[in-house]
Amino acid sequence: MFNYATIDPSKVEYVEIAPADQLPDGERMFIEVEAKSIVIFNLAGKLFAIGDVCSHDNGPVGDGEVEDDEIICPRHGGRFDIRNGKATSLPAVVDIPSYPVRLREGMIEIGLPKA
Ligand code: FES
Repeated sequence: MFNYATIDPSKVEYVEIAPADQLPDGERMFIEVEAKSIVIFNLAGKLFAIGDVCSHDNGPVGDGEVEDDEIICPRHGGRFDIRNGKATSLPAVVDIPSYPVRLREGMIEIGLPKA
């Protein structure tokens, strides 16, 4: 299993998303940026961003239930590790994109591959 969209943090451009206080602990935020649907999670104070499209059948994976560090796709129950996009349970076998996230001057920023 590999992450087809593993992104090298040194090869990204960071894009400002929102003030960090808009994403409290345990919450998630849906964004559209550069034609990508992305969901950002605050898991116990750490921020993670993954693609919001399931690799199994394009389900809205970001709407799923969170269990520990995993999200469960609401369509067929495939699971992904929120920290890195890895598919961890059938029927999902292909990883989803995972984007670097950082905080800068109180703003959440996401790293997108340089064009
Ligand atoms: S669309 Fe997500 S598990 Fe099928």
